[in-house]
Amino acid sequence: AEPRLADGFGRRFRYLRLSITEVCNFRCAYCLPDGYRKTSGGFLELDEIARLASGFAALGVTKVRLSGGEPTVRQDLPGIIATVAETAGVQKVALTTNGWRLDRNVRGWRDAGLTHLNVSLDSLDPAVFARITGHDLLPQILDGLDTALGLGFGAVKVNAVLLRETAYAAFDQFADWLRDRSASVRFIELMRTLDNVDYFEDQHIRASVLERWLTARGWTPVPRRPDDGPALEYRHPDYAGRFGIIAPYAANFCDGCNRLRVTARGKLRLCLFGEGGIDLRDLLAADVDPLWLEQRILDALPTKARGHNLMLAQSGDLRRMADVGG
Ligand code: GTP
Ligand code: 5AD
Ligand code: SF4
Repeated sequence: AEPRLADGFGRRFRYLRLSITEVCNFRCAYCLPDGYRKTSGGFLELDEIARLASGFAALGVTKVRLSGGEPTVRQDLPGIIATVAETAGVQKVALTTNGWRLDRNVRGWRDAGLTHLNVSLDSLDPAVFARITGHDLLPQILDGLDTALGLGFGAVKVNAVLLRETAYAAFDQFADWLRDRSASVRFIELMRTLDNVDYFEDQHIRASVLERWLTARGWTPVPRRPDDGPALEYRHPDYAGRFGIIAPYAANFCDGCNRLRVTARGKLRLCLFGEGGIDLRDLLAADVDPLWLEQRILDALPTKARGHNLMLAQSGDLRRMADVGG
């Protein structure tokens, strides 16, 4: 079915990023350096998530990614995965996680219906990993990734944030890791948010450094397809895996935007770097006609901006990625 979610800039939206918690157990230097400070909870409940997924699927959404915060801190994650996977019209259920207890839990998530897995992992050097995230857990997470690679997911991807201090060592280490693993390692250009300004000034480098590094070593860009996300992928005949580049500061990055977001408290967020959000939560109650939800989403879409203003060093009202789910 043609998606009913499309905008005046030729973009269509079949992909929902749904945050299920703001809580995170890591302290990544660019996101939550002081850790997560407790708020009152009150995140979307399972029945609300079910109605939300149905509403978006009725509008043509076929892929739902669960994000956070750290989505795996929720005890009911397997139930959430199963509920979303059982929603008519949803074909792909994806999860973005920091890898916490990945090895122990990933089989259960797959059995519940998870089809795509992204793991955030900024360095393959245990000491560097511990310094960035505040947790000395690299070996366990790598074991978890190898388990995941054997489970038949549609894709297993690693997200690494591109940092000045670690970039070139990380390129070499991840290339070795990709030689025999059919995973994709995507480097994300560090984004400035309201809370990481000093860190950003210190550590931001352009994604083009990776592009040059790859090109010099015989990696070539993979042609893009219409519904591809923001990553430009590279392959190499001697490697099983792929590199990817996510370059939000590149010109025209937003022209290919294919996703909408809902926060853990039920606000429709039209852009990661936008402002506020349209509250959907009052329409997620059991006694509300589902058509109201669809209508509010459709009414909101024309207000989606053509692009972000990151270039002007404006982050909308985004304090940190954990608040919206990346
Ligand atoms: P796939 O679904 O596997 O293609 O990946 P994805 O990029 O949609 O998901 P993932 O959660 O792995 O996102 C990787 C990171 O890319 C995000 O956490 C953000 O940091 C960044 N990113 C994703 N979408 C956007 C976007 O719309 N705008 C900006 N500026 N960055 C984004
Ligand atoms: N810039 C770029 N990527 C970020 N992430 C979190 N904060 C930032 C930022 N300021 C990444 C995480 C994870 C993904 C969800 O977003 O490392 O891979
Ligand atoms: Fe947690 Fe992800 Fe933020 Fe790291 S980037 S602190 S894992 S929400």
